[in-house]
Amino acid sequence: MQTKRLTADEKSIAYAGTLIRNGEVVAFPTETVYGLGADATNPAAVDKIFQAKGRPSDNPLIVHIASERDLERLVKEIPDTARKLMDAFWPGPLTLIFPKKDGIPDQVTAGLDTVGIRMPNHPVARMLIESSGVPLAAPSANRSGRPSPTTAEHVLEDLDHLIAAVIDGGPAGVGVESTVVDITSPVPMILRPGGISQEQIGHVVGDVLLDPALKQTSPRELKQPPKSPGMKYTHYAPRGDMWIVSGEDNSVVSRIQSYVDRSRLEGARVGVLTTDEHVDMYRADAVISCGQRSDLSTVAAGLYAALRAFDQQGIERIYAESFPREGIGLAIMNRLMKAAGYRVLT
Ligand code: TXA
Ligand code: MG
Repeated sequence: MQTKRLTADEKSIAYAGTLIRNGEVVAFPTETVYGLGADATNPAAVDKIFQAKGRPSDNPLIVHIASERDLERLVKEIPDTARKLMDAFWPGPLTLIFPKKDGIPDQVTAGLDTVGIRMPNHPVARMLIESSGVPLAAPSANRSGRPSPTTAEHVLEDLDHLIAAVIDGGPAGVGVESTVVDITSPVPMILRPGGISQEQIGHVVGDVLLDPALKQTSPRELKQPPKSPGMKYTHYAPRGDMWIVSGEDNSVVSRIQSYVDRSRLEGARVGVLTTDEHVDMYRADAVISCGQRSDLSTVAAGLYAALRAFDQQGIERIYAESFPREGIGLAIMNRLMKAAGYRVLT
């Protein structure tokens, strides 16, 4: 299949809407990462998402809507906490887990009795949902296990010839995926940290829990499986082996440099994942900054592109600096830990 590359103008988006109505899958920009969308009411179309991504069928998809009217057809009830969070953060990078109505295909929810819903605020995503006239089931538009795509180029790296089209809307803004929050019990629980921070959610609803599985520091510590099926997979991973080096003071630079030197003596091509503040301080085969340590939103925005850049340079081992787990830093460290398979050097 030839994958069409579409520009983000009205005519192209209307054409993409027709593709979706005809049961095809189309990649499109959102404010978090690029999504791979299909008609959420069409089981055969949803199957195509799983095929293109090579995604395990037990991992449910998020349903994207453009207006609150669409919600009533999909969910059984809208609890008070959900209403507050919607008012505060929709449209935006927040996915809420609701009790689902019958009629949503089992493929979308992987057989669960809940459904994840998000209202994106990216204008192209919103126009696409409106022009297709159906809710869009859409995971991130990467091959399963790869870093999520933040540009149309990244989408094509993974999915060229596997999907009908990609709409190029430039780089996604936030850079990490939406925060997934379960609001089916009285106290909301974060299942996946993301674009909206735990602190921001706390301001709106008071109490908010973190899925205990998110506090683990190694997969072996996992006593309970995560409540969000997707969180159990190694994920976001570059092809090289990665280690996170803990510590945020200046000594981290010399510690990382000595790991790099040792690995290079063993003949490996070695990379360092760092920030603008430290990028000139390392000698390695690839030294890549993902953003500014002084503004973690820039690190979120640059993280996945940086992980992909190591692959392009054939890097076999990557040493990464770590970040404070505050604000968007919680999502950054969650993705880094998964990319590194929870390997941390202290
Ligand atoms: O920012 C985003 O959320 C992006 C853009 C495209 O919207 N989408 C995205 O989708 O990241 P995906 O499929 O890569 O991740 C969805 C996550 C997975 O961890 C999945 O297990 C979880 O949401 N999820 C979906 N439905 C769920 C449900 N009913 N219960 C628990 N977790 C659910
Ligand atoms: Mg994903």
